[in-house]
Amino acid sequence: MVKVKLTDKLDSDVLVVGFGTLKKNLKIEAGSSQIDSASLLTTLVAMGATGKADEVIKLPGKTSKIIVFTGLGELDSNIEPERLRRAAGAAARELSGNKSACFALPSKSVVEISAIAEGAALGSYAFTEFRGKSKDEQKAPLLQVSIITKFADTAQAKASAKRAEIIAEQTFLARDLINTPPSHLTPNSFALRVKKLASKYGVKVEILNEAALRKGGYGGIIGVGQGSANPPTLLHISYKPVKFKKKFAFVGKGITFDTGGLALKPANGMEAMKADMSGAAAVVAAVFAIAQLKLPIAVDGWAPLAENMVSDTATRPSDVITIYGGKTVEVLNPDAEGRLVLADALVRAAEVGKKSGGLDAIIDVATLTGAQVVALGTRTSAVMTNDDELCNQFLSATSISGEMFWPMPLPVELRASLDSPIADIANIGDRMGGMLVAGLFLKEFVDPNLPWLHLDIAGPAFNTGSAHGYTPVGGTGIAIRSLICLAELASSQS
Ligand code: BES
Ligand code: MN
Ligand code: ZN
Repeated sequence: MVKVKLTDKLDSDVLVVGFGTLKKNLKIEAGSSQIDSASLLTTLVAMGATGKADEVIKLPGKTSKIIVFTGLGELDSNIEPERLRRAAGAAARELSGNKSACFALPSKSVVEISAIAEGAALGSYAFTEFRGKSKDEQKAPLLQVSIITKFADTAQAKASAKRAEIIAEQTFLARDLINTPPSHLTPNSFALRVKKLASKYGVKVEILNEAALRKGGYGGIIGVGQGSANPPTLLHISYKPVKFKKKFAFVGKGITFDTGGLALKPANGMEAMKADMSGAAAVVAAVFAIAQLKLPIAVDGWAPLAENMVSDTATRPSDVITIYGGKTVEVLNPDAEGRLVLADALVRAAEVGKKSGGLDAIIDVATLTGAQVVALGTRTSAVMTNDDELCNQFLSATSISGEMFWPMPLPVELRASLDSPIADIANIGDRMGGMLVAGLFLKEFVDPNLPWLHLDIAGPAFNTGSAHGYTPVGGTGIAIRSLICLAELASSQS
C-alpha cells in the first residue's frame, strides 16, 4: 500500500515536476523545487517534447538521480486540481520499479496539494495477483510518494495526505475486486473478503445467504442468481458514528459475472463482464473510506451479489419474479439483470433506513446499461434523480473529486414502455434511451419522497483501452471519490 508524505525539501532519488506550454512555448512548472530549468528546457525542446497531458519524460537530474516531467497541457493562469491529479498519476504510473518519488507540481493551496497527493497515490497501483511465471518481470508500483510543499507543517495539509492514503487504499480494494476473475470472485467470496476487512474499519457486516434471501422474499436476487452454481448473497455493511449529521444508503450492483443469462451475450467482449460488480465494489470502498475518515455521516452499504449464468435453472424470458416488498416483474430479458437485484436491495435499504430513523438519501451505483456507454462514452458517467437538490449537491461533489458525471433525465413518457401485459412491470422497455428506461425501472422501487440518485457507471468502471492519468487498465474505482466528497460536503453542513 502506497504511503503519502509531505515534505519541505527533496527526499527521493526521483523528482517529478510539471511542464506544459505557455503561448506555444514549452515551460517547466517545478512548484517549490529548485532545478536548473533553463538547461533542462533546452533538452526538452531538442527532444521534441510537447508538454501535453499524459506525456511523461525522464531525464538525468542534478539534485535527484532522475527528474521526471509530466505534462500539464496549456499553462493558463488556472490549472484545475483534476489536471494536477492526472499529471501526478501519469508520472506515478511511469515510475513503477522505483521505491519512492517526490512531487513538485504547481500549487497555490491545500486543494492542489490534495489533488497531487491523490493522483500520485492512485497512479501507484498494479494488479499482479494472478501472475505466475511472469510475476518477476513486473515492476512494482511506487511505495511512497512525497509532495514538496511550503504547507508541509499545516494540519490541513497533513490531513489531506492521510486522506489521499485512505482514498488510494479503498480505491485499490475496489480495483482489486473488479480485476479479480469470476473464477476467484463469487458472490460468497466477495462478501467474505469484505467481512474480513470490515472489523478493521469499525464497520458492521450482515450477509444474507441464498436460503435467507429465498425465505425473505428477495425474488430479484434469487431470480438472477438461480442459474449459477455460485449462490447469490446480499451483503450489508454499516458505519454509524455516535453523532451524525446525515444518514445515507449506498446500493451497488454486484453481478460477479454477467453472461446475459439465456439472453446470452456474444463472446466478443464478454470478458469485461467480470467488472459488472463495480458498483458493489465502489459502495464498499466508499463506506470503508467514510469510516476511516471518521466523517459524521451514518452510511449503509448494500451489495446484492449474484452471478448471471446460463443453465437449466436460469430464469427464462417470460418468467415472473416477485421483488422484495411484493412488486412483480416479468423478466422479458434475463440480460437486464442489474435492475432486478438492485430493486430488491433498494427496497430493503429504504426499509432498514426507515426503521432506524430515516434516510436523507439513497444512492445506487451500477454498471447498468450499454446505452450509458453509447450516450456518454467511457470517461463520463450518468446521474439520474428524483431530487434536483441532491443531484446538484452530488454534482458539486464530482467537481471536487474530478470524476466526470453528467445529469440525465427520467422522462415519464418512456415509463409506459415498461408495462407488462401480465405483471406489475416488465424488466425491459424501449430500446431507445435504454439508460433512462433502466433508471425509470429503478424509480418504481424508490419512495418518491426519499431523495434518490442513480449512477450508471457502465463505461467508466472498467478501462479496456490504455492507461491514462491516474487511471489504470482494468477496474478504475469510479464513483468512490464522488461518494466520499458528497459525504464530506454533508459533514460540513449544519
Ligand atoms: N452489465 C450490462 C451493462 C453493461 C454493458 C455494462 C456494457 C458495461 C458495459 C447489463 O446487465 C446489460 O446487459 N444491460 C443490457 C440491458 C438490455 C438488455 C435492456 C444492455 O445494456 O444491453
Ligand atoms: Mn446484463
Ligand atoms: Zn449486467
